[in-house]
Amino acid sequence: MMVKRIAVIPGDGIGVDVTAEAVKVLATLAESRKLPIEFTTFDWGAEKYLREGVTLPQGALDMFRREFHAIFIGAMGDPRVPDMKHAADILLGTRFGLDLYVNKRPVKLLDARLCPLKDHTDKDVNFVVFRENTEGAYVGMGGNFKRDTPDEIAIQEDVNTRKGVERILVYAFEYGRRNGLKRLCMSDKSNALPHGHGLWRRTFADVRRRYPDIESWHLYVDALAMQMVKNPAQFDIIVTCNMFGDIVSDLGAQLQGGLGLAASANINPGNVSMFEPVHGSAPKYAGKNVANPMAAVLTVGMMLDYLGFAREAADIEECVAAAIHQDKTTSDLGGALGTREVGDWICAHL
Ligand code: NAD
Ligand code: IPM
Ligand code: MN
Repeated sequence: MMVKRIAVIPGDGIGVDVTAEAVKVLATLAESRKLPIEFTTFDWGAEKYLREGVTLPQGALDMFRREFHAIFIGAMGDPRVPDMKHAADILLGTRFGLDLYVNKRPVKLLDARLCPLKDHTDKDVNFVVFRENTEGAYVGMGGNFKRDTPDEIAIQEDVNTRKGVERILVYAFEYGRRNGLKRLCMSDKSNALPHGHGLWRRTFADVRRRYPDIESWHLYVDALAMQMVKNPAQFDIIVTCNMFGDIVSDLGAQLQGGLGLAASANINPGNVSMFEPVHGSAPKYAGKNVANPMAAVLTVGMMLDYLGFAREAADIEECVAAAIHQDKTTSDLGGALGTREVGDWICAHL
């Protein structure tokens, strides 16, 4: 098998801490199972930006396209960079620049004890959020007029294209078909945003006709938020726009035990793709050996699955579940271990 090349960008804050464990797990698997994997680490993030003024270096995207099969990012965000300039360039720059239009964010309860909803088991919380990842309110179009005066005007455009909406809907339906998932909910705010989200509504009406084998329905995003808490078992697949996908994926994360467990993949099918935990850099926990590395480790699983190592991906998830069952966890999940000790336990168990 061809060597799979992975670019690793630990980033900022706890991104550094959890990436160290994710890489440890990857290296352990590569070594013990003779996986043809190589990785290269890049020091891009707030520190480099403050030192050298460099965010996403010139030519980085071309390098990814030419030389790598996957990119692993820890997290971006540093209080010393309040406008998140480096994160916008590195994180959003990679999502947009590599046209990673699928943001896949699974919500899977691995241990019923972690669910904040009463009387819910792992069977009740198991769905995938597909977040549109290349347009919407995230495109950065707009500006400020009369800035910092009482008459200031701020415009932030929400860009929705037929092509962009259709391809994420099609991907979500096809994912359902491939994986035997029978229920798909599309969510928008077309009652209040008739132009942009009207396009979502009309495109959905067209696309769903091609998938009569999948039960599909629409919810306004406020109702979706309510239903995710009231009855999460009704969902197999949720598909929504960039901004709502960001919000409901954090809500979903808490249903499975918190951000310390939420993994994600940013995919351009068949091309170099990017993998990152859902959580951010949680600056107050940085470098203290307290952050939960499981989201990053599960993200490695998603990356391995994407690279064709389905067996190893399944083993990683099983291992993380075993660690939780046996309370080999960090304090966010009620355990007494540190970041590194959880990583060590998972490596030993693998
Ligand atoms: P955050 O996800 O960093 O943290 C929110 C809270 O969630 C933390 O205070 C902590 O209680 C908990 N948490 C998150 N990850 C955890 C983990 N692995 N283990 C244990 N607890 C965990 O969100 P925030 O505080 O809103 O943002 C901090 C910075 O990160 C900001 O600069 C933000 O813009 C950035 N951010 C980056 C990404 C990314 O790089 N993908 C994602 C979200 C936020
Ligand atoms: C995420 C993050 C990012 C987003 C931020 C850091 C721009 O919250 O990956 O969920 O909103 O996409
Ligand atoms: Mn987010």
